[in-house]
Amino acid sequence: MTRQRWTNRTTFLLAALGSAVGLGNLWRFPYLAGKYGGGAFLVPYLIALVLVGIPLLIVEFAIGQKMQQGAIGTYTRLHPRFSGLGILALISAFIITSYYAVVMAWSLLYLFASVRVEWSANSQDYFFNRILELSASVNDLGGIDGSIFGALLVIWIAIYFSVWKGTKSVGKVVRYSVPLPVILLLLLFLRAITLPGFLAGWEMYLKPNWTALLNPEVWTAAFSQIFYSLSLAFGVMIAYASYKNDSDDIVKDAWTTALLNSATSLFAGLVVFGVLGYMALQTDTPLVELAASGPGLAFVVFPKALSLIPFPHLFSLLFFLMFLSLGIDSAFSLVEALNAAVLDRHPHFSVAKVALIVCLAGAIAGIIYTTRAGLYFLDIVDHFLTSYNLLFVGIGQSILVGWIYGAEKLRRYINEVSEWKIGKWWNFAVKYAIPTILAMLLATQFSKDLA
Ligand code: PFF
Repeated sequence: MTRQRWTNRTTFLLAALGSAVGLGNLWRFPYLAGKYGGGAFLVPYLIALVLVGIPLLIVEFAIGQKMQQGAIGTYTRLHPRFSGLGILALISAFIITSYYAVVMAWSLLYLFASVRVEWSANSQDYFFNRILELSASVNDLGGIDGSIFGALLVIWIAIYFSVWKGTKSVGKVVRYSVPLPVILLLLLFLRAITLPGFLAGWEMYLKPNWTALLNPEVWTAAFSQIFYSLSLAFGVMIAYASYKNDSDDIVKDAWTTALLNSATSLFAGLVVFGVLGYMALQTDTPLVELAASGPGLAFVVFPKALSLIPFPHLFSLLFFLMFLSLGIDSAFSLVEALNAAVLDRHPHFSVAKVALIVCLAGAIAGIIYTTRAGLYFLDIVDHFLTSYNLLFVGIGQSILVGWIYGAEKLRRYINEVSEWKIGKWWNFAVKYAIPTILAMLLATQFSKDLA
């Protein structure tokens, strides 16, 4: 069987961007910025982007494209001893898809509830008691929540039909699913800047609190956000790049993906904080308190804010539609990473069948999060994946490419095919800077968790 191909370069770019731009941009980035020093958070964030994010994105694009294999095959071709690293990356991909789809299922329920803005009376009670029916502790699983389970099935059906014909169906979906949320975000932006109080929100978001930079936690958060946001260390970007021709440009695609992704995060923050500024004014709640709501931001604080603006139904609908359209291409990119690995080993298998099995497995694994203790599991799993596994795979990958395969050898290939050349700084980043920084972060995280 000949390898699947993207129909053209734009399709690849849209798919890579679709994977990178997801719930993390809308939900994780703004709350991290709000929590960790406002504008000052941009310093570790941009350092992480330039020193680690972009060099590693170039690595993943380059090795996938050169080896023409998904993660496991690519690492094995780089060095046979490193196939385990690919397996580790794919385990993370599998675990993330299984809970990412559940978060999308919650937002599907919110989309339906938008018609009556059901959460307006008490959005906290609505999320924890009505949607999640959260139990008192992680030990009390309770039963499966029927509506979340039903919504989850719908999400998985959508994921399946996005990937069932591999690059062909993905190519069609991303033509709509990448521009749509951007348009919706623009609409919400226009709404935000016409609300009183939005500037106070922006001030909270962007005003630097420099002392935050003394806290190592801020740095770990910035680096893991970059990994998560660029879909690095999950085998996704490797799989996507493996469907390009081995003589295609690499560097421009990596910069384009990375910069547009970060621009979307920054922009999403303006929307989120603009609306929070308005809410602070309306409810007489200090902005700091709203901004510190953490992961509850998307399902508790923000919906509440939406219920306060004129035409709440319409804006809630737009918001959750944006949420879903942002998430879908990130969710199926993870499935594509898994499919690529299976199809590499069994090229005669049908893409549709492999996709079906992977989607079924992902849906079944996600059932645990539809129980009444689901949120607890989600928190634990998210913490371990984003703080350990990603860093570990990142270190392994930079050692493999930098020291074993040879950074210079890969750089020569990259420069041969790319219009924009990369300098020797990239070798330095891959060989020294990335493994050292990531090892330090791993140690910091470990000592914090032990304490
Ligand atoms: N990059 C996505 C986001 O920021 O929401 C999440 C994600 C997608 C992570 C795909 C990892 C991945 F492989």
